[in-house]
Formats: sequence, structure tokens, C-alpha cells
Amino acid sequence: MPKKTVRDVEVNGKRVLVRVDFNVPLKEGKVADDSRLKAALPTIRYLCDRRARVILISHLGRPKGAPDDRLRLNPVAVRLGELLGRPVRKVDDCAGPAAEEAVAALAPGEVLLLENIRFHPGESKNDPELARQLAALCDLYVNDAFGTAHRAHASTVGVASLRPAVAGFLLERELDVLGRLLAQPEQPFVVVVGGAKISDKIGVLENLMGRVSALLIGGGMANTFLAAQGYGLGRSLVETEKLEVARQLLSEATTRNLRLVLPVDLVAAESQEPGAPYRTVPVGAVPEDWMALDIGPETVRLFADALAGAKTVFWNGPLGFFEQPPFDAGTLAVARALPPAPATTVVGGGDTVRAVMRAGVADRITHISTGGGAALNFLEGKELPGVAVLLER
Ligand code: 3PG
Repeated sequence: MPKKTVRDVEVNGKRVLVRVDFNVPLKEGKVADDSRLKAALPTIRYLCDRRARVILISHLGRPKGAPDDRLRLNPVAVRLGELLGRPVRKVDDCAGPAAEEAVAALAPGEVLLLENIRFHPGESKNDPELARQLAALCDLYVNDAFGTAHRAHASTVGVASLRPAVAGFLLERELDVLGRLLAQPEQPFVVVVGGAKISDKIGVLENLMGRVSALLIGGGMANTFLAAQGYGLGRSLVETEKLEVARQLLSEATTRNLRLVLPVDLVAAESQEPGAPYRTVPVGAVPEDWMALDIGPETVRLFADALAGAKTVFWNGPLGFFEQPPFDAGTLAVARALPPAPATTVVGGGDTVRAVMRAGVADRITHISTGGGAALNFLEGKELPGVAVLLER
């Protein structure tokens, strides 16, 4: 890794500001999924063990630059304390006098969590004054927030240019694993892409096409490809303004002789309402006033065949209306068809991570990325601003 990490700097007694991504789902005042907290533990423990004063900073949700009580980080501090096995202090601001006082009271080896940085309007504008206030809290900056590394904000870029800035272990591993997918994926490399829209994935598809042996496309975005091939899809989600892009991607795949697998059957329903009538139909036979909500069993079989011999797999995006059974069946079946080790399997994006967990195969996955948008940006070949600003080795 070309960037310096926490291993390369002296941290003993220092005030270390660690940008983490604790943008986690909350339910009834509690953290509903603590995987992003667990993923940050190695860096936090490393710093505590070396007697650093650890100051954590994160966003939660999109509060629009003003305090919002539903998006306070208090439940995160509680859960993190349980996971760390030591108390985590929490202060109700993330810059200014209250934060400065809390930092001044911090002893070596202690952990403080600042309030949601997006309560400040300057965060998403990368405001230099907010960056200066954050820099005033620390001697050293660590970025361990891969999930937010594609955002050029005050807490990811502004403050990092004002203090020595290095990567944490979570960020290091993400860049390492995802970097290998681009640089030297062991073939056959199979990519599974789903989710609602192709607009979010065009760059990734273009950048990966030359590197993969098969591309499996499902979910809402497959509808746009199918529509581009001339199939009628009833009332299914189709991005009509992206039909031309879909045609170009299909023709590029043909030119490259790439195995691009689209659904051959779909589970269509009268509506998205629970209990609405549904049935499996071949592609092209979605009734006019129905909508496709999942891939069908024949498509699952085709995807499973392509995955069976894969040495490397990357998967982002559910293959159907995953939130609502029975339209989660295709996604769960494909999760169970992921090849076991020694194949390298990498999964990214909130819904896809939930899918491998629900399918009970999470422990078989080589790497569960903590980044959705960030992983896609990286695999598109884009430089992540939060990484670019860190010190070179
Ligand atoms: C995420 O959950 O993808 C990251 O925390 C980034 O969140 P954002 O899209 O609100 O910037």
C-alpha cells in the first residue's frame, strides 16, 4: 500500500482524530447492525494499547447541516463501549469549546466519540474553518472510514490536509483487497451486479469489462438491458433514458466476447404490495400491468453455473425486491451459490451484505466491504479524495 498507516507513526500520548464510518442503521434507539463498528475495532484497539488519546468522528445519516436528535451518535457510543470492553465517552458536539474541553479531559488510552459531524453545515462543503476547528482537536489524523472515502468533506479531506494523515487498518485492508480485483484478479473473475438502476453502475461495468470472464446482471437494472434488447417488461422499473447506454454496453460485451448473463426468467407480480399475486414467467412474458420483482429459478441456475468455477467474485446489489419475501429468493439463492475458499469472494453494498448474512454464508466470504458507493467509485478507477490526501509512504 503506497500510503502511510498507523504503523508508520508515533502515537503514544498523542491526540489522534480517527475518521470512522459509523453510519449504521438504528432501531428503537439501538444499533441494528454493528458490523461497521466491529470493522473499526482493530485500529481503535491498536491506538488505545499504545496510549494514544483516541478521538472518533463520524457522520450518521444525512441531517442537512443541523442537529437532529434522531441522528445523534449516543447509541453508537454505548454499543462501541460494549464491543471494546471499555467506556467510550461521548460529547454533544464535534467542534468548538465543548469538543475541545472533552478532548482536553481525555487521558492516554481513553476513547471519545464526537457528535455527528453532519450537524455542521461546513462538513459536506469541506469548509476550511470547520477543518481548522477539527485540526485544533488533534496532533495526528487517521482515516479508517472507507465507506466515506469518496466524499471530499471537512472530516475526510479538509482536516487531513492540516495534520499528518495516515490510514487505519480497515482502510488499508479495503484498498488492498479491492485493489487486487483491479490489478491482478485470479481468473475466472465473475462479477455479479444488481440493484435498481444502471446509472449508478455504468462506470464500474465499463471499467471491469476488460478484467472479467463473466458479468451477471440482475435486479431492477437488468430490466433496462432487457428493454434495450426489445423485451416488453410491463410496469417494471426501466430507465428509459439509459436504453442507449445499455445498448452500448451490450455491444461492447459482444465485441469483447464477454459472457454477459441477463435474466431468462423473472418473478413478476401485480404490485409491490405484500400478498399481491405473483408468478414466474419467461423474459418477454411479463403481463402488461405487472412488474418484475426478482430473477427466476432458471436465471439462478445460470448464475450458479457461472459462479461454480470462479476463482474471484465481486458482488454488488440485490437481484430483486429483496426487502420483501418472496422476492428475496433469487438474491438468497445466488448468495448460497458463491464459491467457497480458496476462491476470493468480495461483497459490497448494504443490501448485498445483508443478503449474505441472511443467507447464512457471511463467514464464507473473503471480504465484506464496509463501503457501497466508495467501493463502486474505487472499482470505477476513480481516485478517492479521502485516500488521495493521506501521506505517501
Ligand atoms: C455509506 O453508508 O455509504 C457511507 O456512510 C456514505 O454515506 P453518504 O452516502 O450519506 O455519504
